[in-house]
Amino acid sequence: MTHPPNFVSGTVWTGDNLPIMRGINSACIDLIYLDPPFNSNEDYAAPIGSRAAGAAFKDTWTLSDIDVYEHGELAERSPAAYAVIEAARQTHGKSMMSYLIMMAVRLIEMRRILKLTGSIYLHCDDTASHYLKLLMDAVFGGKNYRNCIIWRRATSHNDPGRFGRICDHILYYTKSDAATWNDIRQPRSADSLASAYPSQDERGRYRSADLTGPKHSTDVMAPSSLPWRGYDIAPRGRVWSAPKTGTYAAYIEEHFIPGYRKIKGVHERLDALDKAGLIHHPKRGKWPGLKRYAAADAGTPPQNLILNPIGFTNYSASSKEYLGYPTQKRVEVMERLVEISSDEGDLVFDPFCGCATTLVAADRLNRQWAGIDLSPLAIKLVDQRIRDDRGALWGGVIKRDTPPLRSDLGKLPNYRTHKHRLYGEQEGVCRGCDTHFPFKVMEVDHILPRVKGGSDHYENLQLLCTHCNKSKGSKTMAQWRAAQG
Ligand SMILES: C[S@@+](CC[C@H](N)C(=O)[O-])C[C@H]1O[C@@H](n2cnc3c(N)ncnc32)[C@H](O)[C@@H]1O
Repeated sequence: MTHPPNFVSGTVWTGDNLPIMRGINSACIDLIYLDPPFNSNEDYAAPIGSRAAGAAFKDTWTLSDIDVYEHGELAERSPAAYAVIEAARQTHGKSMMSYLIMMAVRLIEMRRILKLTGSIYLHCDDTASHYLKLLMDAVFGGKNYRNCIIWRRATSHNDPGRFGRICDHILYYTKSDAATWNDIRQPRSADSLASAYPSQDERGRYRSADLTGPKHSTDVMAPSSLPWRGYDIAPRGRVWSAPKTGTYAAYIEEHFIPGYRKIKGVHERLDALDKAGLIHHPKRGKWPGLKRYAAADAGTPPQNLILNPIGFTNYSASSKEYLGYPTQKRVEVMERLVEISSDEGDLVFDPFCGCATTLVAADRLNRQWAGIDLSPLAIKLVDQRIRDDRGALWGGVIKRDTPPLRSDLGKLPNYRTHKHRLYGEQEGVCRGCDTHFPFKVMEVDHILPRVKGGSDHYENLQLLCTHCNKSKGSKTMAQWRAAQG
């Protein structure tokens, strides 16, 4: 079931994306692209003088960066994800563990807000990509893994003692088998067409494609293993195979041989192809082949390696698109992913939007969009980039810094109405000090405070005694416990 989003297109939040995502309606987003910190153990800053000067983010992780409550919640609510994290702790140490906890709690929210037809692309590099793959399998389900796309972002790099690190990894998952997929082909260049289709006749460029297939034991007496026009291919372990279905068979039928796909028998199809001049007979020795014309080439389908023509390297400082934002990505790469995994009018979301490369791509392709970034500078750059595209008449980014209120939970009863049930479930014991109290001393508390995206939903409520509730205020349980020492 999908829900309408509870914010408008063009919204960018400044702040931590976790509480903000917790306030977003379930199943309202078509496409998520995220390019989070990679656990690179570096701190990033934009060059002075660049349009992004002042932007910075840290990418070093320790357990003190993680809300311990999230740690506990993850262990309880997502044992598969927690097992991956525990494996990372044992093999890689606490920094990787902390980073993965930070990612896991956010990925769980991303899955919730994604529509059943939605897709998610997680951009990372090989520092953590293998652990992130396992984490994504745990959260989205291994069967929903589609690809690891390799993006070559630089031509060469000198990394002493190891191979130059010039590639990023983009993990592509869908929420289900019903995900949007637009088979957008890349037109081939003239050079590539000339080398892929080296021969020429009066109809145009073509290549000679194999008209045989491997011979199976069941084919011994089959007509397809009998000689055709004097060519005896059976001794070579092959059988005849002329296309009967598929796009090229349809092309043949439409352009050269009406009713071609209805012809029964491989020899009969070969005869028809030959009569229509569609068989290439080589001068010496070799077998005949099917003429496959360049005119039927729809271009290259999306591949899991991103290279030319959509961008070989990341931007050089002189490029028009370059802002200097730390780890800025190429807009052409984003455009490709947005085109393939969403339709016009769909909602694209980037929870680590940086200088808004994804949002700019979505805007250029007439999608709706929204993003979040911790850095207040990010919002300025989003505004500026989209204004550069759209001109002064554009109304500007909608700036927010508090989580939206969920509207997909139906009309919830006042949260206080749950007090009796909670009292029964907790057997009258305060969740803060573990002490038994009479009913009237207890108060209903939001486990995740409303200011941090927590809802009035029953699952987010607990009973605390008056004293604990007052002391906790708008802190999370972890923050409150930590403050108590
Ligand atoms: C790798 S950069 C994204 C770059 C972006 N793809 C672009 O092309 O500009 C990661 C971004 O995540 C932001 N960030 C880190 N932790 C965050 C959090 N918890 N919530 C929101 N944004 C966060 C950083 O400020 C940084 O801008």
